[in-house]
Amino acid sequence: MSKQWGGRFEEKTDPFVESFTASVQYDSRLAIYDIQASIAHAQMLGKQQIIPQKDAQKIVKGLESIRKEIEQGKFIWNSALEDVHTNIEHALIQKIGACGKKLHTARSRNDQVATDMRLWTRAQIDTIIDLIIQFQKALIEFAELHLDIVIPGFTHLQPAQPVLLAHHILAYFEMFQRDKQRFQELRPRVNTLPLGATALAGTPHPIDPQFVAEQLGFKKLCANSMDAVSDRDFLIEFCSHSTLVMMHLSRWCEELIIWSSPLFGFVEIGDAFTTGSSIMPQKKNPDVAELVRGKSGRVYGHLFSLLTLMKSLPLTYNRDMQEDKEAVFDTADTVENSLAVCAKMVKSIKVNKGNIQRALDLGYMEATDLADYLVGKGVSFRDAHSIVGKMVLHAIKNRKPLRELTLHEYKSFSSLFAEDIFTILKPLTIVKRRNSPGGTSPSCVKKALQKAKKITF
Ligand code: ARG
Repeated sequence: MSKQWGGRFEEKTDPFVESFTASVQYDSRLAIYDIQASIAHAQMLGKQQIIPQKDAQKIVKGLESIRKEIEQGKFIWNSALEDVHTNIEHALIQKIGACGKKLHTARSRNDQVATDMRLWTRAQIDTIIDLIIQFQKALIEFAELHLDIVIPGFTHLQPAQPVLLAHHILAYFEMFQRDKQRFQELRPRVNTLPLGATALAGTPHPIDPQFVAEQLGFKKLCANSMDAVSDRDFLIEFCSHSTLVMMHLSRWCEELIIWSSPLFGFVEIGDAFTTGSSIMPQKKNPDVAELVRGKSGRVYGHLFSLLTLMKSLPLTYNRDMQEDKEAVFDTADTVENSLAVCAKMVKSIKVNKGNIQRALDLGYMEATDLADYLVGKGVSFRDAHSIVGKMVLHAIKNRKPLRELTLHEYKSFSSLFAEDIFTILKPLTIVKRRNSPGGTSPSCVKKALQKAKKITF
């Protein structure tokens, strides 16, 4: 098979080199973007009379029929033709004859691949934003369904203070809100046209890149042709934002894994999102959550592959850059699948109030409120902390929760304790008192929920 660049070569490419350098086995997924960009480019060449209008029209028709073949799975990709760009160009020439050879006027594969990757990344950003919203909606619905449930809040995974389950869930809403914003902020940086940079320096042909940008929905043109063909920052940012999504998902999944262990038993994940053991008949394992947690690793890895790939590369295009594709393709697949499965899984979660109630009795989570009670009666917080510390020790030794100590026992630690102490020791009362902005009181959480709904639905 003769190469598009074969003119100055006397010897054939080594077959092993052919397969070593080929990328079509993975970059063929850029085909729809490649054709979309080529159609806009051909129309521009015709409009600017760089090639005859009728040739441009023939090229566009040819590309459209190749697109159909690809969509129908009839197109045969050939790795001897290296990549998606050369495969499509070769097919075009086969289809419409010599005038297909005019498509690559005022264009290089360097600005072509940069354009395809920007179109692809823009589409992934839109998909990911949409998937984040679906996941946020599922979180909001879950929080709203369980507004009355108080759970232990943790620090160091030790019981700390009671909180509303909905408050805990809405913490994740906030994380994904930031993730969404990061992708929204990235979009305009991606939405910039490199086509027209050609190999690196621009072109003497009277091109109209503004027209191409409008056809492809790009808002701006890349300002510098050398930067246009060698910038992969947008892919690194895409991977970086993706790592944060995966990090947040891994935390969410970790909570589900812990909460669904019978030792906690706060929740049960639906059968459809768990698997059994081949040996232990009793097991119901949170494999989906574990896999999402595990998949965060490969996305972090891709970010570092890209950073390492780009480090120290001299301007402008270097073939190393072909190695960006598998990293970003797998990043997008992993993030999109993980978000989608997590949104579905949330809907399958059942909350076990009895187990949560039992857990609220453990861990002496009323201690801070007891100290605050004494503060309310004029004791300094440090002294109150020390008094309540001694009470907790006493309760541990007597194997009782704080609320089961008698008033007499309370008074033996401080005469300031009175009967009203028992009314403030209920988890819901403790939660209700935390009415500071962003706090866990039901009125704060209801407000947060309304706000979340307003911006998401
Ligand atoms: N397959 C190549 C890539 O992904 C396309 C650009 C090739 N350019 C070149 N000068 N060899 O990077």
